[in-house]
Amino acid sequence: MNSPKLFSPLQLRELKLRNRIAMPPMCQYSAIDGMAGDWHLVHYGSRAAQGLGLMIVEATAIEPRGRISPHDLGLWKDEQIEPLRKVVAFVKAQGPAIGVQLAHAGRKASGARPWEGGAQLSPSQGGWECVAPSAIPFKEGELSPRALSKAELGDIVGAFVAAARRALSAGFDLVEIHAAHGYLLHQFLSPLSNRRDDEYGGSFANRSRLLLEVVEAIRKVWPADKPLFVRLSATDWAAGGWDVPECVALSGILKERGVDLIDASSAGLIATQKVIVGPGYQVPFAQAIRAGAGLPTAAVGLITEAAQAEAILEEGKADLVLLGRELLRNPGWPAQALRELGAESFDGRPSEGDTSLRSAASTGYGRGLAPQYLRSLREMSR
Ligand SMILES: Cc1cc2nc3c(=O)[nH]c(=O)nc-3n(C[C@H](O)[C@H](O)[C@H](O)COP(=O)(O)O)c2cc1C
Repeated sequence: MNSPKLFSPLQLRELKLRNRIAMPPMCQYSAIDGMAGDWHLVHYGSRAAQGLGLMIVEATAIEPRGRISPHDLGLWKDEQIEPLRKVVAFVKAQGPAIGVQLAHAGRKASGARPWEGGAQLSPSQGGWECVAPSAIPFKEGELSPRALSKAELGDIVGAFVAAARRALSAGFDLVEIHAAHGYLLHQFLSPLSNRRDDEYGGSFANRSRLLLEVVEAIRKVWPADKPLFVRLSATDWAAGGWDVPECVALSGILKERGVDLIDASSAGLIATQKVIVGPGYQVPFAQAIRAGAGLPTAAVGLITEAAQAEAILEEGKADLVLLGRELLRNPGWPAQALRELGAESFDGRPSEGDTSLRSAASTGYGRGLAPQYLRSLREMSR
């Protein structure tokens, strides 16, 4: 029997992912007052029914000031729990695990949606004052953010914790802390955006302090049987910026503080970055962190082919593969990969968790037709 690694389970604390195909967080910019709506149920629900092992819900703001756009999801108030609970329950019923990315956009908050141009919104355009480690704008011509005081940093940690409690109440299996893509926690990590002269700026230890405080505080309220992920940008792709050696060192410390997996991305900190993009271009970061810090990693970025995903896992470069835009284009990717890799079924047997096969095989139409669909599916996967 052919048993690709892609379709093998992954155990993280007490959570068992049924396979290693996951959808990374992707903003939908479709929330009203931070609340999930029908769009979220359909978007996440439809992909959940296609055989993923895990999906991570988009950047979800821990406070209104931390939204990338006015239309981001939020978990800054209790009213936002119930609509997400509905999404979580539906997704879980289809088989995948579901996490949520908790985020604060810092100086990159207060923007228009991408399809409205994505530019910074001033308070008079419906935006708000942004906050950051230092009063340095993301790019020339933007309004300067306000540097956060030390007391305010305590409030930010508190808001992350409160959002994590709400995520737990909504039923999420895991939380991912967003410390990548030039958002607030990454702004603290990088010397290009953090020019503070207190204990939150300067040395590597000082620049890492806020993220470590957030992780420690969340780990206290997030149950010991549930995993905690951190998404990091491994490099700023810019001279003098945050880079792989510091990222590997930080990942080792995060592991000691109870982080279970590093979601290894890159970039987003400054507008003048020079990113070299190509198939699997960020896989070396997942590999370096996994080897150097000794904890599981997720690889992401232009992973689109089944054989490519399988090789990343087989060669020990990562433990999980995340497919973003590919799953937007092609939600049926898991079943396609199953066929291409010649696997017997999603976890080696037609199981309850084997949703896409089960529904494709059994919903059929009319009495007596299901066996024929099942047979053609089996033939397909040879
Ligand atoms: C529409 C869209 C929204 C995104 N939103 C987020 C987000 O909320 N949080 C995040 O960490 N990354 C976000 N990303 C980045 C993706 O998670 C992923 O890292 C990136 O798309 C590269 O993977 P891919 O080549 O498979 O698409 C977004 C990407 C897209 C295309």
